[in-house]
Amino acid sequence: MTEPFERCIANGGVVLFPSDTVYGLACSPEDPEAIARLYELKRRPPAKASAVMFFDLEAALVAVTHLGSRAQTALQALMPGGVTVLLPNPEHCFPLASGADPDTLGLRVVSVPVLSGVRVPVMQSSANLAGDADARRLEEVPELLRAGVDLVIDGGELPGRASTVVDLRRYEQGGIDAVRVLRQGAVSDADVAAALDPAFHFNPDTYGDMIRADLPGFDVFQDTTVAATGREARRILELGTGTGETAKRLLERHAQAELVGIDESPAMLSGARRVLPADRSRLLAQRLQDPLPPGPFDLVVSVLCVHHLDGDEKADLFRRVRTCLAAGGRFVLGDVVIPLDPAAAVTELTPGYDKPDSVADQLVWLRGAGFSAEVTWQRGDLAVIVADLP
Ligand SMILES: C[S@@+](CC[C@H](N)C(=O)[O-])C[C@H]1O[C@@H](n2cnc3c(N)ncnc32)[C@H](O)[C@@H]1O
Repeated sequence: MTEPFERCIANGGVVLFPSDTVYGLACSPEDPEAIARLYELKRRPPAKASAVMFFDLEAALVAVTHLGSRAQTALQALMPGGVTVLLPNPEHCFPLASGADPDTLGLRVVSVPVLSGVRVPVMQSSANLAGDADARRLEEVPELLRAGVDLVIDGGELPGRASTVVDLRRYEQGGIDAVRVLRQGAVSDADVAAALDPAFHFNPDTYGDMIRADLPGFDVFQDTTVAATGREARRILELGTGTGETAKRLLERHAQAELVGIDESPAMLSGARRVLPADRSRLLAQRLQDPLPPGPFDLVVSVLCVHHLDGDEKADLFRRVRTCLAAGGRFVLGDVVIPLDPAAAVTELTPGYDKPDSVADQLVWLRGAGFSAEVTWQRGDLAVIVADLP
């Protein structure tokens, strides 16, 4: 349906279409007559703004190049998905969609299989009469709208919950604390926070410089951790791949291995994709707290990531790592820890996001999960722990 959709929009038409949440009405964001018709059809007051929707993340990012790198990273973390973001709009892009507030742009990026490949942006609003319930199925769209549009696209039954509206207008300066969820919807507050937190802490373009400034021994620490992985492995699971700093060393050392890497930040993983061989690595955007990819792996490695979990979550993770490792498999953890001597704690930490534990506690949890575990290296508040299965 890509071509008829784009043609209809270009010719000033109004389309009834399936988004990734509910049915919507779309028209060109540059065409005042089409916009007036769309608003009239659904009886929406003309002064109200509507979001501009893209069907492709790259196309959306090109349209908002004025955004700072933190906000750009946030968009990559949240989208495509059931979120509408409000962005600062100093250049007054898409002025006809901005209603009475030209300094704000509402942006949506969706992934809709039937419209994949659409490159043009549209101005869109839900396919209901103003104030009425959203439509999950085509039959729920009022007859007046179905008859009044120029093209109807049936996408079957949709999730039915409208997008979550997230205000990112002050995110660039204020980070996560300046984010507001203005309407609850398809994506939970917790998922919004989880997506934005790493975007705030880790930007794939600046990560390498930032981490080397914060941890002067970063490269030695990486090499030491990877050296502790021991004999040749074939299937490696990496927890918290980030931009691929550890993964590329692992693939060099284990020349026959394939690596599955997980990380909660799609933006960081896009950095990893740029440096890792595609035929030997599979990268998945997921949290360590989610079910781990199915094993058996003969090696599981994590560098500078597990300290983002609290104690209970670490103990739970260690039990799950055990179940996805093959017999005789090894788990290597290189991470920031609480040192015995408080003066040795030199790594800069963010309260609430960095949650290191002592080596002693982690050894207890690992042994409780069935590993024989020992510390093979420690300098200040950095340690490498090797845990083996019988
Ligand atoms: C300091 S970076 C380490 C990346 C890589 N291992 C390295 O050493 O360069 C930490 C990574 O952990 C990820 N992360 C933090 N908490 C996570 C969680 N709960 N689940 C999955 N990934 C997480 C972040 O997105 C980030 O990419």
